[in-house]
Amino acid sequence: MMEATGSFKGKVVVVTGGSTGIGLSAAQQFLNEGAAAVYVTGRSEKTLNAAVHQLGERAIAVVSDVSQQADIEALKARIEKSGHKVDVLFANAGIAESNALGATSEELYDRIFDINVKGIFFTVQTLLPVLRDGGAIVLTGSIVGNKGNEGLSAYNASKAAVRSFARTFANDLKSRGIRVNTVSPGATRTPIMENGLKLDDEKIAAFDAYLKAVSPIGRMAQPEEIASAVLFLASDKAAYINGIELSVDGGLAQV
Ligand SMILES: NC(=O)c1ccc[n+]([C@@H]2O[C@H](COP(=O)([O-])OP(=O)(O)OC[C@H]3O[C@@H](n4cnc5c(N)ncnc54)[C@H](OP(=O)(O)O)[C@@H]3O)[C@@H](O)[C@H]2O)c1
Repeated sequence: MMEATGSFKGKVVVVTGGSTGIGLSAAQQFLNEGAAAVYVTGRSEKTLNAAVHQLGERAIAVVSDVSQQADIEALKARIEKSGHKVDVLFANAGIAESNALGATSEELYDRIFDINVKGIFFTVQTLLPVLRDGGAIVLTGSIVGNKGNEGLSAYNASKAAVRSFARTFANDLKSRGIRVNTVSPGATRTPIMENGLKLDDEKIAAFDAYLKAVSPIGRMAQPEEIASAVLFLASDKAAYINGIELSVDGGLAQV
């Protein structure tokens, strides 16, 4: 085998929600940059297997639901079994579902918060013992954490909580030299559009037209464009960057 090169040469990375979209693209980029092992998680074994088939032999699939503490413990146990210490944790797993105010069930509210908020908190807390001192954590927020997009109050609030976690975790982990940052994507063309937001082709085209009118960059992001910002924040190039939110939105929420 050719010796790996790149800015993550020999590193061990965990990507929650690494089976599709932004997480899958980040996993691919970490591997392209020489990572020795990239753990990718998700709930669907079938989707994870397809991802690992694409990512290759240094990718390790672990079926693990971030809203279930036992599943996160199992992920930690799997990492320990391999004798790995984790250099980079990309806590990315999340769902997006709309919730009409006045017609939101307790079950829907709990699902969004259990995955997007509780899931981030317990992923970080549970994996702390297997994280390497001096490592990096990147959380996936969203520009909507600072916006009031109609019909998305639970999702928007969940992402505001993620951004808040990064501030406090950066302080909580300072004695271990672990940096914690948030990457906040704008609209990104991933399966979340269909699966979570229930957008069909027509609605996605309308969304595209809207972005063309209001966003300086005039289009959605591709997952690779978010992933490259994640790798930057996780890398030594960002050694002095801590506790920030990096919006990667083509300017949509910035202007
Ligand atoms: N796409 C956008 O426009 C956009 C914008 C801002 C922020 N984001 C955020 O970016 C992150 C990634 O989303 P994406 O756009 O890449 O969507 P995606 O393609 O749907 O990816 C979501 C990933 O998370 C996994 N996942 C979902 N629930 C999970 C759970 N309970 N436990 C473990 N894994 C879980 C999914 O696999 P399974 O379904 O098999 O579990 C999948 O691997 C999310 O946090 C999302 O909120 C996306």
